[in-house]
Amino acid sequence: MKKLKVVSSVLMVAFLLILSACGTSKTGGDEKKTVRVVTDAAYAPFEYQDKGEVVGFDIDFIKAVAKEAGYNIKVEHVGWDPIFVEIKGKTADIAISSITITDKRKQTYDFSVPYFFSKNEILVPKGSAIKSAADLKGKVVAVQNGTTGQEAAEAILGENSKDLKKFENNNLAILELKKNGADAVVADNTVVEEYVRNNPNENFTVIEDDGAFEKEYYGLLFPKGSKLKADFDKAVKKVIDNGTYAKLFKQWLKKDPDIQILKDQQ
Ligand code: ARG
Repeated sequence: MKKLKVVSSVLMVAFLLILSACGTSKTGGDEKKTVRVVTDAAYAPFEYQDKGEVVGFDIDFIKAVAKEAGYNIKVEHVGWDPIFVEIKGKTADIAISSITITDKRKQTYDFSVPYFFSKNEILVPKGSAIKSAADLKGKVVAVQNGTTGQEAAEAILGENSKDLKKFENNNLAILELKKNGADAVVADNTVVEEYVRNNPNENFTVIEDDGAFEKEYYGLLFPKGSKLKADFDKAVKKVIDNGTYAKLFKQWLKKDPDIQILKDQQ
């Protein structure tokens, strides 16, 4: 009789455990909303494709932020121009793609609080006569179309300059430089520096010009009026404050972030 009682109470506990396990997974799954995140995965080390998968600092960052905010995400590579079409048309909920927060973009979109400090730099062959931004004048410059790199180059070459070659993604702009179809590429510092590091045999170098290029900050891009912004802003700050950001930064960029520079902007 005693044995029977023990067995039945063990069964009862097991039953309750199974029941509660079902319960959590069910409600957890139902409550978490899945948001569609779009990117242009041709901008290593922020977002790029590795064996058919979209990876990079931005991708790990948005995963951490979404988790913190309590959302499931599905990240999809759509390309640079389509990002803006999709966010404007609300067929995607969020874009992460090293997107600089600019006043012009703010007229059409909402941004999260800044999560990354950046600036443009010039990628040139070693020994190039180009030593500063001003030296780009009269030279052929390749950029990714619709980026702050294009704007920075246009500020020197002039808008619609025939010396400016615009490409759908940044890898194509670099390819043009490799083929001697351009004298320089203007793009985000982290990206061109990483390119030089990963391709030492190609003999490229980077030119910084803090006087000519402005400070930039990346943000998550939302449709104007998006209800997600509040939750994601909070989560971005949390991920920066709780050390996750520094961990990912170190992992992908091999150095420590300047957290203060972000805090000053928030
Ligand atoms: N930060 C620059 C901008 O917002 C370039 C970003 C390009 N990003 C990319 N994934 N291709 O204009």
